[in-house]
Amino acid sequence: MSDLVVQGTTLTAEGPEPIEIGIQDGRFVEPDGSVDRRFEDGYLLPAAIDAHVHFREPGDTHKEDIQTGTASAAYGGVGFACQMPNTDPAIADAEAYRRVANRVEASAHVDVGTWAGVGPEMECFELGDRATGYKLYSGPTTGDLLLDDPEDWIEAVERAAETDRPLAVHAEDPRILTEARRGEEDPQAPAAHARMRPPEAEVRVLERLAPRAASTGARLHAAHVSDPRTVEVMNEHGLTCEVTPHHVFLDSKDVERMGTRAKVNPPIRSPHTRPKLWDAFRRGDIPVFASDHAPHTLDEKDQPFHEAPSGLPGVETIYPLALARALAGNIHIERVLDACCRAPAELLDVPLGRIEPGHWANLVHVPEEPTRIGKRTMHTRCGWTPYEDHQGLFPEDLMVRGDWVLEDGDLVAKPGQGQFVGGPAWD
Ligand code: DOR
Ligand code: ZN
Repeated sequence: MSDLVVQGTTLTAEGPEPIEIGIQDGRFVEPDGSVDRRFEDGYLLPAAIDAHVHFREPGDTHKEDIQTGTASAAYGGVGFACQMPNTDPAIADAEAYRRVANRVEASAHVDVGTWAGVGPEMECFELGDRATGYKLYSGPTTGDLLLDDPEDWIEAVERAAETDRPLAVHAEDPRILTEARRGEEDPQAPAAHARMRPPEAEVRVLERLAPRAASTGARLHAAHVSDPRTVEVMNEHGLTCEVTPHHVFLDSKDVERMGTRAKVNPPIRSPHTRPKLWDAFRRGDIPVFASDHAPHTLDEKDQPFHEAPSGLPGVETIYPLALARALAGNIHIERVLDACCRAPAELLDVPLGRIEPGHWANLVHVPEEPTRIGKRTMHTRCGWTPYEDHQGLFPEDLMVRGDWVLEDGDLVAKPGQGQFVGGPAWD
């Protein structure tokens, strides 16, 4: 007998269809016994996975911490979020990694994994297959995790190839950034940010690393791609990449309107590039949708452009924005479920992303109509969203490994209900 049987309607390529599923010991099983919970309206869908978030713990917990970050994730239907290591201090060795894993077990509302940061000593690789994944920063951004020597990038690819874990790259060649900065006549202007961090800086790093990854078997993954040429390079070599909501839903016209709030690395691109990225995403050439949730307070963001930190919050809005676009007919629902659920599950090797027997029992119940985001309170500690005028389909209920996290729009999971999710070899 399953512990629980849930019934409702799901969305498939053929349209809405009835669904009935059992849940036992945190996994989906064949339904067996009477229905315990019937959802009369709305849709039951897999919960999302956000493979790229910054929860700022340790070091910058005035912006966010694991508890507030995972609360925000829950309200957005994200049952598993994988955080980045550019904290203060950085999560760049096995000891720091275990410490943060313990913090997750003590304070998270949903499940959390962590990309171990590749530092100059490359101590992170001592984790082997226990790391959820590895993260290489090739160019400067928030925090001091940076490896700017191309020889080191190659070494990181080779070290990652000795593991089964993915290596995500923040691709911006610092030499190209320096050159672009030198040629900039008006470096304080908001539009200068994108000129000083041109797409070539991204493309060049991956042109260099992708062939080496393909020949060594390293699972190279391009984080937050901002140019269609990067997508081509990754596809050519059979490697994965992700795009963020801000690179497909916002462009340089929004940067003019929003100023420092839209400052991010890599920068939001032109109205010419944005639709190309959106099309590559809709075709499936960009397999993964990831928020790059990078909370900074409004006090910090509302400084003169060159002083304001880079990054936008997004873990709470990524799945609702994508689902609302699917309901509006802008993208196929199957692509949204692939990019928000199935492909990130594959990237991170977790049995998630589908409401099917054997998978961890993570699901959301969403209403049939989206709402305008402007009216919603965000649950990230930084307290704001760049998507005020956009439509979002927000979950009313969220289940993670068989337990309710969100019920009727309220967070019911205690801090610590979430688990740390490392690689398959985590003990
Ligand atoms: O704009 C960004 N903000 N890009 C990054 O790569 C890091 C992030 C942050 O942590 O604030
Ligand atoms: Zn990031």
